[in-house]
Amino acid sequence: MNTLKIGVVGLTVGNEHIKSYMNASYDIEIFICDIDKDRLNTIGTQHQIPVENRFCDFDEMLSSVKLDAVSICVPNFLHKPFTIKALEAGAHVLCEKPMSVNATDALLMKEAADRTGKKLMINYNQRFTKNCRIAQKLISEGALGDIYFVRTVWHRRRGVPWWYPLSEADKTCGGGPLIDLGCHVLDRALWMCGFPQPKWILANTFCAVVGDEAKQRGIDNFSVEDMGVAMLAMENGMMLELEASWASNRESELVKTRIYGTKGGLVIASDFASDNRSINSLFIEKNGTLEDVPFSDFEDEDTGDIRISFIESILNDTQPVCTAEQGLTVARIIDKIYLSAKQKTPVEY
Ligand SMILES: NC(=O)c1ccc[n+]([C@@H]2O[C@H](COP(=O)([O-])OP(=O)(O)OC[C@H]3O[C@@H](n4cnc5c(N)ncnc54)[C@H](O)[C@@H]3O)[C@@H](O)[C@H]2O)c1
Repeated sequence: MNTLKIGVVGLTVGNEHIKSYMNASYDIEIFICDIDKDRLNTIGTQHQIPVENRFCDFDEMLSSVKLDAVSICVPNFLHKPFTIKALEAGAHVLCEKPMSVNATDALLMKEAADRTGKKLMINYNQRFTKNCRIAQKLISEGALGDIYFVRTVWHRRRGVPWWYPLSEADKTCGGGPLIDLGCHVLDRALWMCGFPQPKWILANTFCAVVGDEAKQRGIDNFSVEDMGVAMLAMENGMMLELEASWASNRESELVKTRIYGTKGGLVIASDFASDNRSINSLFIEKNGTLEDVPFSDFEDEDTGDIRISFIESILNDTQPVCTAEQGLTVARIIDKIYLSAKQKTPVEY
């Protein structure tokens, strides 16, 4: 295989993509793009990326180099146009989460990937954490039996991303914490449970805590929720509860997914959140005895880097782990959640 030419556009979270590509044990040449020239050159210098591989304009990067792949790490509203341009220029795409600001755009992105025959992977990197992988494996092996209830949450005490253009965040981001944080914990829960088909969705959103602070910051029209809650009824009878907040009156951050099955249950909590004292564990009953099995008892040899997985899907011509189809499902659910909250009624998926 010749050198893989990979472009990264958007160099805040995009810097994490660059680091993965630089650490990969494959022959990769990196090209970078950001409209912020200072950031472009700071990151370029930090990684010793040649000046001729740096671009302020995405179209110019695509027309100057025949890229094999692109990481799209720009704000949400640019995911659709940048992904479609990159696919049409003949590159495979790893697009940051959420797939886009709504399901209409996400569908156009998936159609572009189908049309061009290029891979489109969505960066749902939480699936690549050790605990998510162990949980998914246990469930797929039947350790929990039939899954009937899931609660998946991401709450922050105070964690509004004030650097986003929040007065028009419904357009630029697609919403508030439900799409920003909720998409991650929804995706990982659906993935662990084999992506069951949704049937009904009942939801509500609130802007209950941050309104005054938004005004103090000069945002008169804080257009999105600071918390959202949804209950999903699946075709197979399973119920899934999703909660996401940027600001809620609780002790500290919580990122947790709990799953109940007929034979066992489990809980996973993300390390980076401070309120995760419960151990990642499997709960089962063996010969009439209740047992807690910590996840540290299970082996996991995966490297856990989503960007390496993306590269390997290109090199081996295999389906990416986080598919465009799954990204579209998450986008459709989130659209319906906002619709249910707006209409104050349950909506059909
Ligand atoms: N997977 C994760 O856990 C994770 C974490 C953080 C952010 N994200 C996602 O990554 C994306 C970016 O988030 P962020 O926090 O890095 O945002 P950010 O606003 O901090 O950074 C976006 C970057 O894109 C650049 N940019 C904007 N418009 C551009 C254009 N037209 N051409 C080239 N560059 C442009 C900006 O200058 C900036 O450097 C979002 O979709 C977000 O949801 C994912």
